[in-house]
Amino acid sequence: MMPIVDMLVQHAKKEKISMHMPGHKAGMLFSYSHPFLTEEYSSFLRNLAEVAKHDVTETLGVDSLHDPKGAILKAMELTASTYGAASSFFLVNGSTCGVHAMIYSSFRRGDTVFVSSDCHMSVFNALMVTGCNVVVVPVKVDEDTLIPLAITPEDVRKAYEMFPDSKGIVMTRPNYYGVCADLAAISEIIHENKGVVLVDEAHGGHFGFNKKIPESALSQGCDMCVQSAHKTLQSLNQGAFLHIADNKYKDKVFRALKVIETTSPSFLILATLDFTREYMKNMGRERLDELADSLNDFVSRLEKYEDYIIFDGCGFEKDITRLVVCVKGKGVHFARMLADRGVYCEMYNDNCVVFILTCADDKDVIERLFDTLVSVYDELSKVEVEEKSIRVYKGEIREINLPNFETYMNLEYETVDVKEAVGRISSQFVIPYPPGIPVIFPYDRINDAHADICRSYCIERINVIK
Ligand SMILES: Cc1ncc(COP(=O)(O)O)c(C=O)c1O
Repeated sequence: MMPIVDMLVQHAKKEKISMHMPGHKAGMLFSYSHPFLTEEYSSFLRNLAEVAKHDVTETLGVDSLHDPKGAILKAMELTASTYGAASSFFLVNGSTCGVHAMIYSSFRRGDTVFVSSDCHMSVFNALMVTGCNVVVVPVKVDEDTLIPLAITPEDVRKAYEMFPDSKGIVMTRPNYYGVCADLAAISEIIHENKGVVLVDEAHGGHFGFNKKIPESALSQGCDMCVQSAHKTLQSLNQGAFLHIADNKYKDKVFRALKVIETTSPSFLILATLDFTREYMKNMGRERLDELADSLNDFVSRLEKYEDYIIFDGCGFEKDITRLVVCVKGKGVHFARMLADRGVYCEMYNDNCVVFILTCADDKDVIERLFDTLVSVYDELSKVEVEEKSIRVYKGEIREINLPNFETYMNLEYETVDVKEAVGRISSQFVIPYPPGIPVIFPYDRINDAHADICRSYCIERINVIK
């Protein structure tokens, strides 16, 4: 059952004159041959027209995202029941808008909030807009590969000893490399202290559908979570879910979404969210089973190629569908060689290449990926790279001094050499990759240690407040 898809199919069948937005009027002009278009462009637009006929707006017979009463409401209810949420919301502006909605509806100006240091920019931005005091809990980092791991329950306890008034936590699980923190234990600690647990599960929309994949954040005690259905599931870009574990949060989340989300939601995105839920309900367990088995087989066959080291989470739980191949300083060469052979990765850095595999990847694709990795192996082994001495920034539990939003928007800054920045106040985040964890926050006074770390990452210039 797909209520939104059904609504769009029925609407498309109607004989009608559409006197409303979007102005392309069901892709009308995309399907004509225009003299200024080449045949290739015309063909592209004709394909687009097929899709655009369903790109409608809230007119009679079509439900509204911001006031759902029909198909959208039904689809969201079905999603809540599939995911085990009290309520679920469909998002058309990505997890980013879900993160803002979770934070706006949970915290107030002046609240102290724990944040795992690997949080996405949207978390820091939303906390800055809200006016919270942010206490960063550092994630562990694997010193060999510089891959960020996760925060630990022990560190969350320590954070409470230092900041007993914290109102809760915002944390990422899983991270970009598929690493999962022990959320069940962390939720317990936060709830013992009457706090709220908000999880950015942007990369974990497929969690919980199969025992070979980590459990979902909802099943591990979170109060709210967001999932980018476009990252690891089947939605068009920007489609995401926000789930809440208790309907006491519902009204505020809904109000927050009305403030920040577009008033012209894409019904194409909504339709793919509807399909995603139906697909995962019917096929998720089986397809993830096949995917996990194929990937386990892939990993064991790759073992004999010793220069490829498959990242296994270093003792933390790790999602098998996030394949991370470590190649000691040769990541950039590796990614380029693969792209030359038609394999495009999600991300690469000096040390590793990250591949995202989903239910859309069948055995044949996985086999082709394996063959390509093997085909570049000898060439990659011969590549010589200079050893870099990188200082691992371990971080500490600390309150950061984020400016309030108005101050941030009006900061006057200049760009100076790192050595001249010592003693000045940063106006920016400095986030070296890898591991992608902020070393300097806006309003931090820059010290020698910061400058050393920047230099070790070849960061030579930095923005400081005038
Ligand atoms: C951990 C994490 N959270 C949130 C986001 C934002 O998600 P979206 O692109 O769906 O807005 C990203 C995007 O890459 C992310 O990696």
